[in-house]
Amino acid sequence: MKVLVVGSGAREHCLVDKLSQSSKVDIIYSAPGNGGTAQLGKNVDIKADDLESLLEFALNKKIDLTVVGPEIPLAKGIVDKFKDQGLKIFGPNKELAKLESSKIFAKKLMQKYNIPTADFEVFNQPDLAKKHLEKREFPVVIKADGLAAGKGVIICKDRKEADAAIETIMIDKKFGGAGDKIIIEDCLFGQELSVLAFSDGETVIPLVGSQDHKRAFDNDQGPNTGGMGAYAPTPLLDKQGFNQLIDLVFRPLVAGLNKENKKYKGILYAGLMITNSGPSVLEFNVRFGDPEAQVVLPKLKGDLAEIMLKTVDGKLKETKIEWDKRACVCVVLASGGYPGKYEKGKEIKGIEVAKEQKDILIYHAGTKEKDDKLLTSGGRVLSVVALGDKLKETKDKVYQAVNKISFEGMQYRTDISNKAKFKI
Ligand code: AMP
Ligand code: GLY
Repeated sequence: MKVLVVGSGAREHCLVDKLSQSSKVDIIYSAPGNGGTAQLGKNVDIKADDLESLLEFALNKKIDLTVVGPEIPLAKGIVDKFKDQGLKIFGPNKELAKLESSKIFAKKLMQKYNIPTADFEVFNQPDLAKKHLEKREFPVVIKADGLAAGKGVIICKDRKEADAAIETIMIDKKFGGAGDKIIIEDCLFGQELSVLAFSDGETVIPLVGSQDHKRAFDNDQGPNTGGMGAYAPTPLLDKQGFNQLIDLVFRPLVAGLNKENKKYKGILYAGLMITNSGPSVLEFNVRFGDPEAQVVLPKLKGDLAEIMLKTVDGKLKETKIEWDKRACVCVVLASGGYPGKYEKGKEIKGIEVAKEQKDILIYHAGTKEKDDKLLTSGGRVLSVVALGDKLKETKDKVYQAVNKISFEGMQYRTDISNKAKFKI
């Protein structure tokens, strides 16, 4: 089988790694890929959002399965385009990708199917949004409706901050058209959890729950990032709580959409807050999380290519997924200054030595090879992942590996997985 993976992060390297373990897979192309995917297949110089060129490539090479990593090609309708030409592609169509690309669409569906989420109001005019603030208690959360690279959510502790957020999003148009409409919603408190599930439109199979670390620095300080590390499984929900969550969130959504003749196919990712009154959905994403994929996929036993094909073909019912019971911890190594300004082109040393340790996996993100050297080429540079029996020893193991790797300005959190307080 010929597979095309769209994207260039550590999530995509991890997907390529897992897919390459399938006996069904002969070759994996990555578009555009990175230094890591190049070692497992062929990189193709096409950007992830260049749908026309991706389609042309897939038709020319007779690709049997395309797997889409990031949200933008899904939001732009890559699945519809490929399916129109008879190509198999893993992910939701453009209409259902709105679960991520329009927060209003997602909130309305949650309301319709009684899925727990913060109370909210929608506004398309800044003056009406500001007037609404007169009767609010604070803090409130203000969200741009559209895609804003994870930056379109502003938590406002008072009226002044909320007015400023409305101006930034709706008047200054910091996120462009993504801010034409906004949501103002209640602020929730609790620990955050990421739960992902395969869905073929009828059957839902959850993956193990994980916890991301979005802030740049230890103890959740500093600005929000794409994610600085993750661990799985999490002790935030016990088995019963986890099953209830799937029945409360995933099954009603997929079944409700199915009744409307809309089959959600691909990965459905719920970002949740575990509040005093139970789990509440903060957002849906329509793809694997990054770095969540790096701690969940290494625990997947079995053939990812087969599971993905079954998802696309509506045959997930026939699939049973087993999980490696061990703990998995991922630490993201970033360029100094990330998520703000950072320099590129720094030589990365020590990967081979770090990999000599047992059960260490290293996934590339912003790396590129030049003159036989591996150089940094992005904000998040590498994901260092360890598997181990207990979470505490796995954390120690992953940081031993991290200590063997170096590049100028290397920045990372030293507390990944502490949120679990080592209950597991
Ligand atoms: P989102 O892109 O909607 O997941 O939001 C990004 C981040 O904002 C989340 O990971 C939370 O940390 C925070 N957030 C979003 N919605 C809320 C909310 N209603 N209450 C508190 N924090 C929130
Ligand atoms: N780690 C958060 C995300 O992938 O959206």
